[in-house]
Amino acid sequence: MTEAPTKKALICGITGQDGSYLTELLISKGYEVHGVIRRTSTFNTDRLDHIYSDPHEKRVPLQLHFGDLANAARLRHLMELIQPDEIYNLGAQSHVRVSFDQAEYTADIVATGALRLLEAFRDYARESGKQPRYYQAGSSEMFGASAPPQNEATPFYPRSPYAVSKVAAHWYGVNQREAYGLFISNGILFNHESPRRGETFVTRKITRALGRIKLGLQEKLYLGNLDARRDWGHAADYVRAMWMMLQHSEAGDFVVATGGNYSVREFLELAASYAGVDWEKCVEKDARYFRPTEVDSLQGDSSKARRVLGWEPEISFDELVRSMVDHDMELAQQELTLVRAGHKVAPRGGAHG
Ligand code: NAP
Ligand code: GDD
Repeated sequence: MTEAPTKKALICGITGQDGSYLTELLISKGYEVHGVIRRTSTFNTDRLDHIYSDPHEKRVPLQLHFGDLANAARLRHLMELIQPDEIYNLGAQSHVRVSFDQAEYTADIVATGALRLLEAFRDYARESGKQPRYYQAGSSEMFGASAPPQNEATPFYPRSPYAVSKVAAHWYGVNQREAYGLFISNGILFNHESPRRGETFVTRKITRALGRIKLGLQEKLYLGNLDARRDWGHAADYVRAMWMMLQHSEAGDFVVATGGNYSVREFLELAASYAGVDWEKCVEKDARYFRPTEVDSLQGDSSKARRVLGWEPEISFDELVRSMVDHDMELAQQELTLVRAGHKVAPRGGAHG
């Protein structure tokens, strides 16, 4: 009996939260995974280090290649070199608040960068004679000011340079699908978190601070708008939806969401009660964390993904919050050990976290 050839996946944005969970999922399914990483002056592969090993020592089906969504020639070259069956575009300047300060850069990476990768994909599909499949990481931010519940028929009303750029990327994908008959699916994913979430997104900022406050490493947590409401799921569930989109017989656009809707304050209350911290004594407002235009409430209706793909989230909101608090309590404990040994630890929270 001849074995089916190993599928190859190319992930742009592999070093991010979703990239690491998607890599684990694809490797567990027998894929050979190739990731695009940016050259940085410090290591940026923390989220992959438990998977990756020195190729000189051990064969793990994961290879990393330097590249950037700003560099079209390199994206083309990587596609020709790797000959992937599936391409996942997760690369982005993904912070909404930062996009107000770096609007042009955000547009270049999130909108034009997506177009660069799509153009490379179009040529690669034609020249290779293969029928590769493409996933674009779209966002519930695209719905912005449109009232919840939001589904695939809800009009886009973006409220930040990031969201405007994601809308452009979405439509570039739809247009190439219709113009050239390519398999391009857009996921419209609502907020998803995990212990690997970047520390300047609100959920992780909260759980990270609670751990440090509990152990006396930090006194205050400065936040912005506590009234904003989000539909928060777990990243491990959401990368499964990405993969399912590319296994389906037809390309399309899919909302991925839990259907829940909690305020930032409710997330904070639950996390603080689990951590055993009186949040009202340590949380303060800071104007710099408010956005010039806010997205007040997101709540996804993912009936299409559930019906067509058979996708369902498996991790509850409660489990998500607990897993993040537990993880960050452990991290704070490690920091405390370092402090007691005389080391200096860096304060957490970036300028625009
Ligand atoms: P993330 O943790 O911020 O990861 C973003 C990834 O993009 C990182 O690997 C980053 O590399 C890479 N990247 C940034 N600029 C790049 C460039 N110029 N060229 C190539 N790669 C670049 O984001 P995430 O939470 O995993 O989200 C993955 C994708 O889904 C993003 O496109 C995000 O906008 C979108 N999304 C996320 C959510 C969510 O709730 N998490 C919801 C909807 C949509 P470095 O590590 O070098 O910075
Ligand atoms: N980051 C942050 N920091 N947000 C805060 C803070 C704070 O100190 N205080 C309140 N918030 C509020 C924000 O105003 C926003 O309404 C909400 O918390 C969530 O903010 P983020 O966690 O930064 O996520 P986001 O919803 O803006 O964007 C995330 O989800 C999108 C999907 O809807 C990002 O992952 C985007 O890349 C993603 O597309």
